[in-house]
Amino acid sequence: MSLRARINAPEAPHGQQEESHLVAVYRAKLLEEIDLAEMSSLAAAERRIRLERVLGHIISREGPVLSTHERAMLIRRVVDEALGLGILEPLLEDASITEIMVNGPDQVFVERAGRVELLPIRFSSHEQLMQTIERIVSTVNRRVDESNPMVDARLPSGERVNVIIPPLSLTGATLTIRRFPRAFTLHEMIGLGSLDEQMLMLLSGLVRAKFNVIVSGATGSGKTTLLNALSGLIPEGERIITIEDAAELQLQQNHVISLESRPANVEGKGRITIRDLVRNSLRMRPDRIIVGEVRGGETLDMLQAMSTGHDGSLATVHANNAEDALMRLQTLASMSEVKVPYEALRDQINSAVDCIVQLSRFADGSRRISEIAILDSHGREEYRIVTVCRFAARPMGADGVVHGAFEYHPLPRRVADRLRMANEPIPPAFGVADSEEQLAAREAK
Ligand SMILES: Nc1ncnc2c1ncn2[C@@H]1O[C@H](COP(=O)(O)OP(=O)(O)OP(=O)(O)O)[C@@H](O)[C@H]1O
Ligand SMILES: [Mg+2]
Repeated sequence: MSLRARINAPEAPHGQQEESHLVAVYRAKLLEEIDLAEMSSLAAAERRIRLERVLGHIISREGPVLSTHERAMLIRRVVDEALGLGILEPLLEDASITEIMVNGPDQVFVERAGRVELLPIRFSSHEQLMQTIERIVSTVNRRVDESNPMVDARLPSGERVNVIIPPLSLTGATLTIRRFPRAFTLHEMIGLGSLDEQMLMLLSGLVRAKFNVIVSGATGSGKTTLLNALSGLIPEGERIITIEDAAELQLQQNHVISLESRPANVEGKGRITIRDLVRNSLRMRPDRIIVGEVRGGETLDMLQAMSTGHDGSLATVHANNAEDALMRLQTLASMSEVKVPYEALRDQINSAVDCIVQLSRFADGSRRISEIAILDSHGREEYRIVTVCRFAARPMGADGVVHGAFEYHPLPRRVADRLRMANEPIPPAFGVADSEEQLAAREAK
């Protein structure tokens, strides 16, 4: 049955209680007969096959009167329950769902195509929800209980899972599952209206000509997705090191080293931070460093790396516009234990950051580049941000869709020169700004 059919199925069809009873009985019998330790060493697909086989034997032995279809359904349901995540299972199978949010046993929300909807399904009890949560976190050897009421983990299949339970959560046990983000190509993103060909030409030139680019946006605005797509523009032959909290980037080049930070273990030991990894990466002769998201003191190390020979590096930061992104980088860099005076930080950012690509999530759920800004200041100057592209949104109409247009502004001459030096085209929609001398000469006339 499809996910929708399953979710929309009428409540308690005839015989459902009987069926649930059979499922519970055979689940118990199955759990009696299998060797759990042996099961855990098997891959997921093999585990399912093994369970189905054992259960098939049990059913044949006990001989309840079942049609072939009933028998198949029973096996499927028992194995799903024994192995899987109950009502979450079909949601996880549904590729159109990008996020699953369980707020206590009675509320299950999902996000589809950028929109959040409440589903007409619920867990039968708090205990059933807790069992599902325990099953999820135990696959990554973590535990959730009153003394450890918050867990953030990544499943082997790539989903990011966050759990917070009472007494911290007053809403009840809360589970958030973020699907492993689908890798969009830049052309697919053009198809979605997130950028256009002219912007792609500019961004391709900037990445290939080794500008340092910061992708900025709010939570869930598409930073990681864009970072991944931009990384795809890096030419083969360069040594790329990616650094992330939860490895999400999927680079296609053949010379890539992926590093992932590690939380402390149950005894509070063994933590490796993004900062440790950024520092270590500098000793690995990288051509480019890609930092999934800067959140703390590692920002200073990253900025230093960017301004000392690791041009063409990419990172994301959580901010609402280009100016805010610079302020945020500055604040984060100042969180480093090395105390750097404000002017020196500005100097650092001025020499490290070349371009900020701002992403926004719009009211209709669409994500797009809302601004491309060049940082055109140098040394200890105040930041001078030149917006070269902006999305001008029109008020939302009756269709509930955000319409608008990208606007382009001339590229600062220094940027154009650097693109030309690298043999990259200047996108015609942008053009090049007059130099200061030309402007002065024209004004003098
Ligand atoms: N341009 C796009 N168009 C449509 N959907 C997108 C686009 N970019 C990203 N998405 C979807 O939006 C969701 C969030 O994307 P992503 O993880 O890249 O965001 P993020 O800003 O990195 O989030 P976080 O702040 O949590 O790290 C994903 O489901 C992703 O597939
Ligand atoms: Mg992200």
